[in-house]
Amino acid sequence: MAARAAAGAWMLVLSLWGAVGSQNITARIGEPLVLNCKGAPKKPPQQLEWKLNTGRTEAWKVLSTQGDSWDRVARILPNGSLLLPAVGIQDEGTFRCRAMSRKGKETKSNYRVQVYKIPGKPEIVDPASELTAGVPNKVGTCVSEGGYPAGTINWHLDGKHLVSDGKGVSVKEETRRHPETGLFTVQSELMVTPALGGAPRPTFSCSFSPGLPRRRALHAAPIQPRVWAPKPVPLEKVQLVVEPEGGAVAPGGTVTLTCEAPAQPPPQIHWIKDGMPLRLSPSPVLLLREVGPQDQGIYSCVATYPTHGPQESPAVRISIIETGEEEPTTGYVRGSGLGTLALALEILGGLGTAALLIGIIVWQRRKHREERKAPENQEEEEHTELNQSEEPEVAEGSTGGP
Ligand SMILES: *[C@@H]1O[C@H](CO)[C@@H](O)[C@H](O)[C@H]1NC(C)=O
Ligand SMILES: *[C@@H]1O[C@H](CO)[C@@H](O)[C@H](O)[C@H]1NC(C)=O
Repeated sequence: MAARAAAGAWMLVLSLWGAVGSQNITARIGEPLVLNCKGAPKKPPQQLEWKLNTGRTEAWKVLSTQGDSWDRVARILPNGSLLLPAVGIQDEGTFRCRAMSRKGKETKSNYRVQVYKIPGKPEIVDPASELTAGVPNKVGTCVSEGGYPAGTINWHLDGKHLVSDGKGVSVKEETRRHPETGLFTVQSELMVTPALGGAPRPTFSCSFSPGLPRRRALHAAPIQPRVWAPKPVPLEKVQLVVEPEGGAVAPGGTVTLTCEAPAQPPPQIHWIKDGMPLRLSPSPVLLLREVGPQDQGIYSCVATYPTHGPQESPAVRISIIETGEEEPTTGYVRGSGLGTLALALEILGGLGTAALLIGIIVWQRRKHREERKAPENQEEEEHTELNQSEEPEVAEGSTGGP
């Protein structure tokens, strides 16, 4: 009804505007449409001609007053007006009438007909009942079925229009056309990343805006999913495991620090030594090879979760045992280092004996180096390592330390 009133308003506006241009007429699919032939006498005999160029015609088609096979689609009424008993998508196009009054004055009418169908109320299918703060969630898919022309779907959060921003909001719209009816189904999927500490029960709604101007939007029933913020992992949950146990190692030995922070998605792990962040790319394992005095200190790891703040592990102390006094321990550390190396090589290449041979060579070299006991050399090595890994850390610095 509103649509018809709107069409009426159009005609009024346009007839005031003049008969020179064309009038835009919108007609609801399936309903009758009457187009008046201006200036025509109300009763026969009349001198008038209707012609049309629509989806049903190949070019201009002149309608005869006598009536023909077109009667079911369009026919001229006794008062000269044109009647389309049930408008279809194929009736979109241009309609023209040329009429001669009894006094011999010619008048032309020119109509551009657009058809429309208001779809049913849009609906949010697969609505989320719960969202997790800090990570992307699918809120739902808004579907509008059976409209013409296609139209668009808009999402709203607490009344505010949502658009894809490449960060927290992603909207994916898809339009399909029914092969037989020619009507459109529009669907729009919404993904959001709710902010931590945001509203616990936001209201999401979607609306369908028809493809013709001046038509009211249709609104779907809103949904109010609960936003759930994952609890921070308690401090004791982030564990630091040190190998060898106790963190005491002979000079030249290897220390493996493993940060255990079970969570999905896995957190980023950074390392801290003596209260200062180590400039290393994030990794849950910190390997200290050929340990020297400069490696002694207090170590801890920091797990940064995407959903909440960083969590630091308890600290461990790494210390050097004096060689000579602790021969058996040193031997054990060396032995286990070699074993690990051989195992790793075996796994990598399946080289078997060759791996053992290489392992022995490495072990020999290591022994050599140790005999030289050159702490300056070691320090130099350490520096080179640090310098190499300096560049990627500059960028990392901006993400902020713990
Ligand atoms: C009629 O519709 C056409 C295209 O849809 C538009 O360009 C034109 O401005 C409209 N005419 C009027 C008078 O609104
Ligand atoms: C002609 O007749 C139709 C149907 O009776 C009516 O809707 C239309 O308004 C009439 N046209 C004129 C110009 O009176």
